[in-house]
Amino acid sequence: MKITRREAIKVVGGGILLSPFAYSQPAHAQFSSAVPRFQIPLKLPPLLSPSRSNTSGDRPIDYYEITMQKAEVDILPGMKTKMWCYVGKGLAPAAVGPIIRHRGGIEPEDEGRTSVIRFINKLGTTIEQGKEKPIDTSIHLHGMASLPEYDGYATDLIPPEYFKDYFYPNDRAATLWYHDHAVHKTSRNVYMGLAGMYVVDDAKARALNLPKGDYDIPLIIQDKKFDAAGQLIFDDHRQRSAYGDVALVNGTPFPRLRVARRKYRFRLLNASPSRTYQLVLSQAENTLTGGDFFHVISTDAGLLEKPVKMTAPLNLLRIGIGERYGIVIDFKDYPKGSKLYLQNPAFPNNVDTNNNMSAIVRFDIEDDATDDSSLPDVLRQPFERLVDQIQPGQTIPTRTFRFERNGNEWKINNKTWDENRIDANPQPGAIEIWNLVNLGGGWVHPVHIHFVDLQMIDRNGLPPRPYELGWKDVFLLDDFETIRVIAKFSSPQDRTPGKRPILGKYMMHCHNLVHEDHDMMTQFEIGAGGDDPKKAKAQPISMMKPF
Ligand code: C2O
Ligand code: CU
Repeated sequence: MKITRREAIKVVGGGILLSPFAYSQPAHAQFSSAVPRFQIPLKLPPLLSPSRSNTSGDRPIDYYEITMQKAEVDILPGMKTKMWCYVGKGLAPAAVGPIIRHRGGIEPEDEGRTSVIRFINKLGTTIEQGKEKPIDTSIHLHGMASLPEYDGYATDLIPPEYFKDYFYPNDRAATLWYHDHAVHKTSRNVYMGLAGMYVVDDAKARALNLPKGDYDIPLIIQDKKFDAAGQLIFDDHRQRSAYGDVALVNGTPFPRLRVARRKYRFRLLNASPSRTYQLVLSQAENTLTGGDFFHVISTDAGLLEKPVKMTAPLNLLRIGIGERYGIVIDFKDYPKGSKLYLQNPAFPNNVDTNNNMSAIVRFDIEDDATDDSSLPDVLRQPFERLVDQIQPGQTIPTRTFRFERNGNEWKINNKTWDENRIDANPQPGAIEIWNLVNLGGGWVHPVHIHFVDLQMIDRNGLPPRPYELGWKDVFLLDDFETIRVIAKFSSPQDRTPGKRPILGKYMMHCHNLVHEDHDMMTQFEIGAGGDDPKKAKAQPISMMKPF
């Protein structure tokens, strides 16, 4: 099968929607129509608390423990689905990993804390092409400026019956997520369940009086395909992309959420293998009523400078794989008994956005409430712009990375992943501009760059969409686009007195997990002499001492 070029279609106000090529619909495709719509209450990921804390050093450390194991979980009514789960100590297995909420920041008033998560691999084996193979894992805390040996390097694997302790600095507030990153197996492993959310707060974020507690809700969006027995089908269409026809939010198929007439903060994460969503609110399930709105308050790596209002039907929030957007919805404008849908409008001709995927969540506005939260006009001040840090006459190193398909492989600058090759060598603290280029048609590539927080300068020479103007680590690269991004190759923790700057190798890849696996991934090295990403090796469980 050949990829048809330029099958993208224009979407009202929202840019371009991907339509890569026509698959023949497999026989099980109809199963999703049996999945009930908007009847199952939205589940929340289980909350993981530290197993213990150590406050004796200059920065307190919290220790968490997560076991990776096979489990049967409740997703579809009356069925059990076999998944590979992150199971927090003391928690039951669930379709998404536990959420961790952690206090971070490097200023004294932040009272930030380091975290250590022990990941224990109890996954055992699976059958690959008729052979029994171990399920090796590597865990990436996506959005954290971790040392190379704690960043989930693709070949820094934890074999079954091994464990590894990962150290995280939590140097600034952001909505992060952790997921599997095992070389060539990431799409399967994440699809089978290895993904969870991780939220860091600092003093500035806490001071804002945004909706919190029960009104601060993660919405982890995924699409999956089930067989008639409720088991997951993973089909990457010969290493092209994997799409499901059931939308899951926090592991709940097409959920409803009972809400009060007040403001809520939702932390959106697209943790799907291949699908891009375009989100919009509507009072109807299958059409856009228009006028409904939400505010985007944060991007991948923290708060925006100002909230960005997104009004239906013109403003669609495009969210690529790995991207996180924080939004605030105020339900007080709706009478009790009304319903609001978070829609991902489907388009005819687009095989990959199944029509059954249109509305994803229904909000049932059922309760009156007082609301002492606020949505300030300014969320972050001063808002530091990296382009403003360029001195007159200063030359900024500029690099170009082409994301392309040829020879039946996904490539960056015509190369596939090679752990022994470094494709860029930014110096510590340097500001660089990178051109992310997609010359082809029919595919989008959500490009993720590890370790650094970046800002988008422009897209095809035009300003970024207003909601993309914050700090980010994933950039949704549409077909025929060039995105310019700017980064400073250091992290907030590098500013901590007495700390040496972080050096070392970090990955960059397309976050369509199938593209990443085969083999649209490269690496850069900050400076020289940094820690070897495989320096902190996994240890056998027999060596494990209790935390
Ligand atoms: Cu979210 Cu390199 O990954
Ligand atoms: Cu891609």
